[in-house]
Amino acid sequence: MASTARDGFTSTFGVFLATVGSAVGLGNIWKFPSLTGTNGGAGFLLVYLLATLLVGLPVMIVETMLGRAARANAITTFEREAPKGQWWWKSIGWMGFAAALFILAFYSDVAGWVYAYVFKAAFGELTTTDPKAAASIFGGLVSSPGTSVFWQAVVLVVTGAIIMLGVARGIEAVARKLMPLLFLLLLVLCVRSLTLPGSAEGLAFLFRPDFSKITPGVILTALGLAFFKLSVGMGTMLTYGSYFRENQNIPGTTARVMLADLSISLLAGIAIFPAVFAFGFEPASGPSLVFMTIPAVFTSMPGGTLFMTIFFFLTAIASVGAMLSLLEVPVAILAERYGFGRKQAALCTILAVAVFGIPAALSNSVTADLKLFGLNPFDLFDFLSSNVLLPLGGILICLFVGWIYGLPQLRDQLSNHGDLSNAPVINAVFFLVRYVTPLSIAVVLLHGLKVF
Ligand code: PFF
Repeated sequence: MASTARDGFTSTFGVFLATVGSAVGLGNIWKFPSLTGTNGGAGFLLVYLLATLLVGLPVMIVETMLGRAARANAITTFEREAPKGQWWWKSIGWMGFAAALFILAFYSDVAGWVYAYVFKAAFGELTTTDPKAAASIFGGLVSSPGTSVFWQAVVLVVTGAIIMLGVARGIEAVARKLMPLLFLLLLVLCVRSLTLPGSAEGLAFLFRPDFSKITPGVILTALGLAFFKLSVGMGTMLTYGSYFRENQNIPGTTARVMLADLSISLLAGIAIFPAVFAFGFEPASGPSLVFMTIPAVFTSMPGGTLFMTIFFFLTAIASVGAMLSLLEVPVAILAERYGFGRKQAALCTILAVAVFGIPAALSNSVTADLKLFGLNPFDLFDFLSSNVLLPLGGILICLFVGWIYGLPQLRDQLSNHGDLSNAPVINAVFFLVRYVTPLSIAVVLLHGLKVF
């Protein structure tokens, strides 16, 4: 895409697929199960569902709308849409720029583990259902500084190469091919996991809430996950919205993306937790959970090695779709505001990601004790982005649309200038983003960060 003439998605279904490509990624397969496990299971899931419906979706709708209205990157959009003199709204775009770098720093690290697991699976190194053996395989990978940084570098090079192909071709083509297959494999995994002896305990963990486990910190984490999952609060959906077609039904498309995304996360949960209990893994093992449990489920079925390899390969591709969308925020800013070519912009962004990414990748070895607020670099970037920057961006986007942009313009945009008769939906979105969403994020954020 040239920096002057804006390229865009070429079909209505292509828009849907590309947006799903941003939302679905390591968040579903890795982060959702890991956080559900460490935060007590069903109670967390319940809060996450509420956060997705009441906060994530409305923010996604208005964020996408802003991008399409302004047809610009996350900074220029606020310059164009804010009243003269209110320059500070631009800071939303800059926060998004920073959040993209932080997320990419740890995301590329986890994607590296997935790439490495593709090969380990193919060579039959992962065929075990024994928790100790599985933990030592994963531990061996992440605690070796050279190996972690190597795989992260592979991820960054691959992703950088793909973004240089341009928006329509690159992103759509990748997104289009992978989703149904990943979905199918997850279904197979669910069936296997549910038929393991002792699987009922896992289902209860996932679906029978223990309300005593829902603390302010848990609620903030669930909210952060809702933002992270839907790629909102940092200008990614805004930037994607800027490539949306004029006749795209924004509330309809985003709701469908949210549902698709949620189903994949739930399938991942159902594939993992019954197996966790059946094989005796620890549900609260955190980031390693998926890397230990998924191979165990595959190991217990015929053709396990082949399917396991395909599974990690598809997850790697899913991570590419999400990373492309993350890169798109800084790349669009550098290209449209600072005259960078897209290739140059992608290259600079990737170099910047490497600067943050290497300390993150070394968090299980060299930088393990390099702590800020008690968090190693990996956890710090994760916390800062998901639990601070995205919710903060979400509040500001809601306040902007609810109090500055206003209902008449929102109506015009979300109804495609009157072509869609969706007034009740628009009124509900407006009510949410004007009052409910910013207020609830603020309360959760202040409580979760222990400000009060
Ligand atoms: N939604 C992606 C996932 O769940 O894997 C991660 C992500 C992509 C977060 C893009 C934020 C973003 F802007």
